[in-house]
Amino acid sequence: MSHDVSVIGLGRVGLPLALTFASTGLSVLGVDKDADRLAGLREGRMPFKEPGTEELLADALAADRLALSERAADAAVADAIVLTLGTPTFSHIEIDMGDIRTVLDALLPHLRTGHLLVLRSTVAPGTTEFVAGYLEKRRGFRVGEDVFVAHVPERIAADRFVEEIGTLPCIVGGVGEASGEQAARLFEALGAPIVQTSPVQAELAKIWANILRYATFALPNLLMMDCERYGANVFEVIDLINRDYPRGGIARPGFTAGTCLRKDFAFSEERSNAPGMLLAVSRVNESVPLFLVEGIRRRLGDLRDRKVAVLGLAFKRDTDDERDSLSHKLIRLLERELADVAVHDPVVATPTASFDDAVRGADVVVVAANHSAYSTPDSLAAIGELAAPDCLVVDPWNAFGAAQVFAYASEVAALRA
Ligand SMILES: NC(=O)c1ccc[n+]([C@@H]2O[C@H](COP(=O)([O-])OP(=O)(O)OC[C@H]3O[C@@H](n4cnc5c(N)ncnc54)[C@H](O)[C@@H]3O)[C@@H](O)[C@H]2O)c1
Repeated sequence: MSHDVSVIGLGRVGLPLALTFASTGLSVLGVDKDADRLAGLREGRMPFKEPGTEELLADALAADRLALSERAADAAVADAIVLTLGTPTFSHIEIDMGDIRTVLDALLPHLRTGHLLVLRSTVAPGTTEFVAGYLEKRRGFRVGEDVFVAHVPERIAADRFVEEIGTLPCIVGGVGEASGEQAARLFEALGAPIVQTSPVQAELAKIWANILRYATFALPNLLMMDCERYGANVFEVIDLINRDYPRGGIARPGFTAGTCLRKDFAFSEERSNAPGMLLAVSRVNESVPLFLVEGIRRRLGDLRDRKVAVLGLAFKRDTDDERDSLSHKLIRLLERELADVAVHDPVVATPTASFDDAVRGADVVVVAANHSAYSTPDSLAAIGELAAPDCLVVDPWNAFGAAQVFAYASEVAALRA
């Protein structure tokens, strides 16, 4: 059976994209090596939470517009192939293109004249030209004439896919004009304005948008640590910086990570003109959990056998994505202090304790992810009622509205009231 487009890698990026293509009337082949994921999808089950996608999946299955396969080579039945594979970094700061190389090698013998290959994954600068060169070298194609290659980066935030896919400008970096035109023809069906550019500019625009956010959040995180050193209140200093000041605008502290921010900086850092600069940004964000543990120790002393409730496992507010979340690092660090750690998260799929069980008898409560469920008077009241009488509340997000990173539960309740 033929299809209009194949999407290889049905993860958080690829699956919503495949479903959105199907919703425009295209016949889509979704490919993933994870057989369990495909089995669930055939039964209409989304493997993660992404608003609006359950309906899209049901519609695509009902209209017979989504077929599924485990074999990357099958993707070649469609004229257009979109790669949405993971692109992690090696720990020594270098892009890991393992999945892309594996899939390219599987596709190579099946590629034919007229094929369009789109890299949707986030990649290091030069990767799209590498892929084009690889096809030329291994198959003798002329890219831009026989086959077409483009980078069309995914720029949508988790939980906003359906809302943003039709409106965010869609950057298209084609290898040669014809590649850009072919890729634009595929993506313009989704409704967003197309912005044509070169492959390397598309790559740079994507990774630097994430670097900008990563650095933007490192500044208030560093300021939070400075404030602790000088006995200052970070929320008051941020207010002083921003209030009625046209050149203010500093962000607020928090846990800054997730699969994109935590590694995309490395795609610049691996060949940096300022080696270490973005690594330092990363070190600031990565040191926030340790900063909090040390702040707790300064106030409570030895944490051995003290109960610590960690609220939130996800990498950010209200998502069920806990990949690359700093909560896990916080938990590991607390365990290394021999603390008794209890965890609650109302959104992620991982089973956790109930809120009441997590905070009952806790000596410390840390808000690690600022889920909206925590910013309610009820959760603060439950801590006051159930936790130890002198419980320390650690709230770098200011989820409880008391504007204190470290404060005792009674102070938090009084300040919020
Ligand atoms: N998650 C986000 O919010 C987001 C946002 C923008 C960009 N990105 C980028 O998009 C890309 C994909 O991210 P993701 O979060 O969807 O990753 P993911 O890990 O959720 O999905 C990748 C999928 O590819 C599959 N896969 C791996 N090797 C395969 C193979 N050989 N054959 C078939 N399937 C294979 C995996 O089973 C997995 O389901 C990454 O480059 C990421 O940096 C992600």
